[in-house]
Amino acid sequence: MNNDTVLIIDFGGHFNQLVSRKVREANVYCEVIPYNASCDKILSKKPKGIILVGRTASVIDENSPKCDPEIFKTGIPILGICYGMQLMVSELGGILEEASRDEPGKVEIALETDNDLFLNINTETSCWLSNTFHVSEIPPGFKILARSRNCSVAAIGNEEKKLYGVQFQPEVLETQNGEDMLKNFLFGICGCSADWKMSSFIEAAVTEIKKKVGDKKVLCALSGGVDSAVAAALVNKAVGKQLVCILVDHGLLRKNEADQVEDIFTHRFDMNFIRVNAQERFLKRLAGVSDPEQKRKIVGEEFIRVFEEEAKKLGEIDFLVQGTIYPDVIESGVGNAAVIKSHHNVGGLPEHVDFKEIIEPLRDLFKDEVRKVGLELGLPEELVWRQPFPGPGLAIRIIGEVTLEKLEILRDADQIFREEIARAGLSKSINQYFTVLTNMRSVGVTGDKRTYDYTIALRAVTTRDFMNAEWSKIPYAVLERVSNRIVNEVNSVNRVVYDITSKPPATIEWE
Ligand code: XMP
Repeated sequence: MNNDTVLIIDFGGHFNQLVSRKVREANVYCEVIPYNASCDKILSKKPKGIILVGRTASVIDENSPKCDPEIFKTGIPILGICYGMQLMVSELGGILEEASRDEPGKVEIALETDNDLFLNINTETSCWLSNTFHVSEIPPGFKILARSRNCSVAAIGNEEKKLYGVQFQPEVLETQNGEDMLKNFLFGICGCSADWKMSSFIEAAVTEIKKKVGDKKVLCALSGGVDSAVAAALVNKAVGKQLVCILVDHGLLRKNEADQVEDIFTHRFDMNFIRVNAQERFLKRLAGVSDPEQKRKIVGEEFIRVFEEEAKKLGEIDFLVQGTIYPDVIESGVGNAAVIKSHHNVGGLPEHVDFKEIIEPLRDLFKDEVRKVGLELGLPEELVWRQPFPGPGLAIRIIGEVTLEKLEILRDADQIFREEIARAGLSKSINQYFTVLTNMRSVGVTGDKRTYDYTIALRAVTTRDFMNAEWSKIPYAVLERVSNRIVNEVNSVNRVVYDITSKPPATIEWE
């Protein structure tokens, strides 16, 4: 299927992915290409529209990136955003000057609405403006389409040539009508059809993976987490059993977790799946260790060792699949190598396992898009909606030394907490929730017997980015049920406490 294509020409920075996400949300297919692509290359993609995005620095800098100026003569509609608008102005004969008044941030703007870009949008609106530079003279043939309160030019357009520039970011939430503006560009100006779906992404990714892999072998470390599972399912769809997935069960997973992952990938998917039961090895190495960073190091090292041993048995491997997603990619594709996620389930593997290339089929997607792909591929809801789980697993949720006995206690308590959160219908609104086995024991009473048992802490947070988090206001009735069940059903626990600290100053995990 050939979808209408919009090309996003990327001048660096993080912006291109937000814009492409908005375009995809409008059901239009888009591709991001670097700024230095030639006009011929651009034309070969037959785009219905082009968006110029990226960079915060100025076009006036000597070494600033420029695109092939021929694109402005092709008749293809172009929208320049921030730097893209500056470039348009300077390439097409306008004049820019350094902004005398600093006006970055959310500002009110007044729109002219008799043009296709701002059609059916309120005249008075607000936007996220970043103007280190003013347009002091617009290029010939252009009109001013929006001004900010201090009268600086906020948008320009040449309707005849379908060239538009905005000094603000329509892709961010703070721009009140940004989505409408982008839709006006995509549908009204470029004439795109809204015919792109997640299934189209899957089709394109499968074709690309097939082409890349040919008849070679691919390896994937499955953690049971969303990203690696979706990446594996996608690669499996493309190359079937040429993909080998290895699940290292380090014994630090949640209750029944490894079994569930095994069940999904061997029964629902016909995968080449290897499960390594390495609990004893990990426990042995963790014995007597209570320092959190030391635990992380041990689990990380041992994980690589086990994975390496298994990979060696498979002979030569050509490709390694990683579930890197966009937020893991620190820099844009412009002249910068991707930084592989330091996530410790997979981090470090490339240096240790002998393979030729990495396949990262999800690197352009945001988490919610990855979930959509997962569901489309037939992965079950409970896996696709799984909350994040740290690579070192329960080892960093047991304060102090990790033992099998403590692991069993924690797994049982955690299972109850998860069941009750699901029963209360809260599992999608709380972003991460788990139990911690504190190292503290306290006095309690059961029947007529005095006890001296462990305290379990409940942790639940709401967060967008996991950098800052608020403790979740779980209803008392739910907390009460969780607490009652834990003290009644889990051995060696006589007290449950609820962590009501936000991050910062606390972290989400206790270690
Ligand atoms: P903190 O505790 O730093 O956690 O607020 C932020 C997010 O990162 C996860 N986390 C880890 N993930 N290896 C991981 O793969 C780790 O060592 C690790 N430590 C914390 C944590 O679960 C939360 O989602």
